[in-house]
Amino acid sequence: MSSGDTSKIPNSLQEHWMPFTSNKDFKENPRLITGAKGVYLTNHKGKKMIDASSGLFCNPFGHGRKEITEAVAKQLEQLDYCQPFQQGFGGSFELATKISRHTPGNLNRIFYSICGSSAVETAIKISIAYHRARGESQRFRFVGRERGYHGMNIGGTSVGGMINNVKTFASVLMPGVVHMRHTHLPEHKFISGQPETGAEIANDLERIATNFGGENIAACIVEPIAGSTGTLVPPKGYLKKLREICDKYGILLIFDEVITGWGRTGSAFASQEFGVTPDIMTMAKATTNGVVPMGVIACKEEIYDAVMDASPKGAVELFHGYTYSGIPVAVAAALAVQDIIEKEDIFNRAKEMAPYFQKGLFTLKDIDVVENIRGYGMMGGIDLKTNVKPGKAGFECFKACYEAGVNFKATGDCLIIAPQFICEKKHIDEIIDKLRTGILNYSKNLKN
Ligand SMILES: Cc1ncc(COP(=O)(O)O)c(C=O)c1O
Repeated sequence: MSSGDTSKIPNSLQEHWMPFTSNKDFKENPRLITGAKGVYLTNHKGKKMIDASSGLFCNPFGHGRKEITEAVAKQLEQLDYCQPFQQGFGGSFELATKISRHTPGNLNRIFYSICGSSAVETAIKISIAYHRARGESQRFRFVGRERGYHGMNIGGTSVGGMINNVKTFASVLMPGVVHMRHTHLPEHKFISGQPETGAEIANDLERIATNFGGENIAACIVEPIAGSTGTLVPPKGYLKKLREICDKYGILLIFDEVITGWGRTGSAFASQEFGVTPDIMTMAKATTNGVVPMGVIACKEEIYDAVMDASPKGAVELFHGYTYSGIPVAVAAALAVQDIIEKEDIFNRAKEMAPYFQKGLFTLKDIDVVENIRGYGMMGGIDLKTNVKPGKAGFECFKACYEAGVNFKATGDCLIIAPQFICEKKHIDEIIDKLRTGILNYSKNLKN
C-alpha cells in the first residue's frame, strides 16, 4: 500500500471485486474518493482534483447539488418505495411528461429502467414487441456497430462492438446480430466537430439489409456520438443516411443517448443537434445527475399504440419491467434535475462553453505522445500513441494525470474528457493545464 494518509482506507480491500478495474493494481495503490463538491473531488490523501469527465458522464450539473439532496430526502420521508407493477405514484407520471417535452418528434411514451444497460435491453425488447404486435415476428435481427458501447447486459453486449467487452462472453451473446463498421477513418485527424468524410459508411446498413433481408431486421442501434470508445463523432450526413435506410426497410432506429443525452452536445439530445429523429431513445446517467441509478426509454407514440392495441383490455401489454423501474427516489432526483435544467438554462450553458472547451482540448495537439484528438460539444477523446501493449498507455497516463490533480476515465489508450456543464472558463483552463502536466509527466516516465 502506498505511503501517505491511510486513515481513510478500509482495513481490507480484498473482498470487493471492483467493476472494470485492474483489481490487483488498485489494491496495491488505491485511489479512493472521499468527497465531491461542484467541479472538484477529494481523494483519501486529501488531494483536491478537478473532475474532467463528470464522473462517468453522470454529474454534469455539479457534485453535491443541494436541490437534489433535499428532493431525495423529502421523497424518502414521504414515500420511500412503491411497487411499480399495477401501481404507481404521481411523480413518475409528472417526470414522464417533463421528459417528453425535451425528447424529439413524438417520442412521448416513457418507460423507466434502472441504468443505461437495462435501458438498452428494454429498447431491444420493445422493438421485438412492436414488430410482433404488427404481425412481423420474423424480425429478429439487430444491427449494431463496431466500437459501440451499449452497456454490459447480454443484449447490449451483443449489439456493442468494443472487442474486450465482447470476447469473453461470445458464447452467450444474442443470435442474429450484425455489425456495421465504425465511422473512424484514417484521415479523421485532429478534427473538432463532424468529419466531412465518411457518410457513405452508413451504406453498411443497406448491405446488411440486402444480405439478410431488411424485413428480418428489428432495429439498428447506435450511439449518435460513440462515447465510451473515445468520442467518435458521426461524419456529416451519416445519421441521416441511417435514418433513410431504416425507413426504406421498416427497421427501427434506436439512438443510445446514455452519454449524449441531457445537453452533452449543447442540445437536449444529439438527435436534435444532428437533426435526425430515432424511433426509440435511451437515457441514463445525467437524468438524475448520476446520484440515483435510473434508465429511461422514450418511444414514438405509434410504438406504444401498436403494443397497447395488440392486447385486450385488462391484460398486461408488455411483459417487461424492473423492481426499481422509476422508483420514488430516482424520480425525485430526476425531477430536481429537470428544475436545474430549466432554471440554469443548462443546454445553452453547455453550448456556450463548448467552443472554449474544444479550443483548449486541441491545444494539447503538440504533445509528442498525443496521436489524435476528437471532440464535439462538451466531450472529447485524446488518443495516445500505443505503448508496448494496447491499454497500457491509457492506464499509465490516467494515473499520471490523477497525480497531477485531474480525474477522468481512460478507455484503452484513449483519455475520455467530458467536463461538467457548470464549468466556468477558469475550470476548463485548469482541466487543460493539468492534462498537459499529467500527459507530459507520463511521457517523461516513458523515456526514463
Ligand atoms: C451509450 C451507453 N449505453 C449504455 C451504457 C450503460 O450504462 P450503465 O453503465 O448505466 O448500465 C453506457 C455506459 O457508459 C453508455 O455509454
